[in-house]
Amino acid sequence: MTSRPNKDQQTSPSVDTAGEPKAAKGNLRKVFVRTYGCQMNVYDSERMTDVLAPEGFEATEDLNDADLVILNTCHIREKAAEKVYSELGRIRKVKEERAKSGKDMMVGVAGCVAQAEGEEISRRAPIVDLVVGPQSYHQLPGLLEKARQGKKVVETEFDIDAKFNHLSGQAEKPVLKRAPSAFLTVQEGCDKFCTFCVVPYTRGAEVSRSVQQIVEEAERMASAGVREVTLLGQNVNAYHGEAADGATWGLGRLLRRLAEIDGLDRLRYTTSHPRDMDDDLIAAHAELKSLMPYLHLPVQSGSDKILKAMNRRHTREDYFRLLDRIRAAAPDIALSGDFIVGFPGETEQDFEDTMDLIRRVEYGSAFSFKYSQRPGTPGATMDDQVPEDVKSARLAELQALISDQQKAFNASRRGMICDVLLEKTGRNPGQLVGKSPWLQPVQLDAQENLIGSIQAVEIVDIGSNSLFGRLIAGQDTFDTAGAAAAPASQAG
Ligand code: SAH
Ligand code: SF4
Ligand code: F3S
Repeated sequence: MTSRPNKDQQTSPSVDTAGEPKAAKGNLRKVFVRTYGCQMNVYDSERMTDVLAPEGFEATEDLNDADLVILNTCHIREKAAEKVYSELGRIRKVKEERAKSGKDMMVGVAGCVAQAEGEEISRRAPIVDLVVGPQSYHQLPGLLEKARQGKKVVETEFDIDAKFNHLSGQAEKPVLKRAPSAFLTVQEGCDKFCTFCVVPYTRGAEVSRSVQQIVEEAERMASAGVREVTLLGQNVNAYHGEAADGATWGLGRLLRRLAEIDGLDRLRYTTSHPRDMDDDLIAAHAELKSLMPYLHLPVQSGSDKILKAMNRRHTREDYFRLLDRIRAAAPDIALSGDFIVGFPGETEQDFEDTMDLIRRVEYGSAFSFKYSQRPGTPGATMDDQVPEDVKSARLAELQALISDQQKAFNASRRGMICDVLLEKTGRNPGQLVGKSPWLQPVQLDAQENLIGSIQAVEIVDIGSNSLFGRLIAGQDTFDTAGAAAAPASQAG
């Protein structure tokens, strides 16, 4: 998943919230949500603030000001999980400070650490009042009430249907303006059981939302000014949702349907598994103008021996053949991936096979990690764990290669004219930041009223992480009514 599991970010207050707060105005309570992990957590955090809004909670970005703090956590690697405990240590101090002036602060832990560690969390960090797994956050109001009565609350049931129904219930609420690019969860959980990975345990079995639920949410987003939707799933291309007539739709068919929605000019999806990339989805890349030429398709390793030990259920040749088919359908596609170095038993030769695979594929970008032993996964107890210093050296070598490929890919955009979705103001006055079709940030000089529009832009220079562009015409290339009118204050 592309917002990386190692990246934490603070969820900005969602503007998608409707419904009358129970508390009188002026008596609003503040909730601070910090998000760790993948985009699905980003999406879930926004939905949590939505659930809490009718309870009288307003989002704040200031921890000191919060009546309720929620950490939406990630369990993918040891470091990600440990971050939660160090953050809880900091929060304890803030809570003590607030107590001096008679103010209370409730603390909740949500997400994948909540699911994996349950009550262990409040044992290790007694300030935690509430532990809520990723499939249960729609019950937050009731759980908070219990916690307020002084009970330690731990809710880690897998009731994903209830969660999906809850999300759809939001669809009747009035539409407010939203940022131009949004996430939409279409599928959750994973049945693949790669031997390094906690996701099947923290998110449970694979479940797809129905076509109707997704289409309604996407339509609602489009009427709120969203131009780009990224469909999310731990295994998004394994999507198999039920349509109104009872038929099962794959991701390709779903994308074709979403492409019909007025105003949704850009579609993306993440993250995909090589085993689930079917012909129909590949064909959709050739057919749909709105399906962006970017694909995150993690391979993890280039060694067949390691792929087998990881239970990835494909070989390196399968991956090459698949990429040939994808590139035949979408020649300008930017490929991205994930790599793990130092999986148990990885020899120099296995690592060299991974480097060779990367050289052959030529990625536009990629994420890479040192293998981290996760309790309860088969990899954790395998023989031949790789020493930390070897992992570090391999990671550095691999990242240097990826960085060269990314630079080369970015440099190949110089002089091109491409569509850029303008998303927010830049660092300098008069500057906006947008996104290229290949998911690169593009900086350019343009007026704020263009935020939310898609513009033809010439790429004039290349920076280390972003491209620099020049506006060509100043008119929305899709000419969608209302799109360019999204007020700047609503973006970001
Ligand atoms: N569903 C996605 C990945 C989810 S986790 C997929 O199948 O590709 C995101 C990435 O974290 C993985 O692709 C993997 O590269 C990395 N990762 C997962 N478990 C890990 C572990 N135990 N140690 C190191 N990296 C890990
Ligand atoms: Fe984890 Fe593998 Fe499932 Fe991806 S496919 S979420 S890496 S178990
Ligand atoms: Fe992390 Fe859970 Fe996402 S473990 S990567 S937050 S699914």
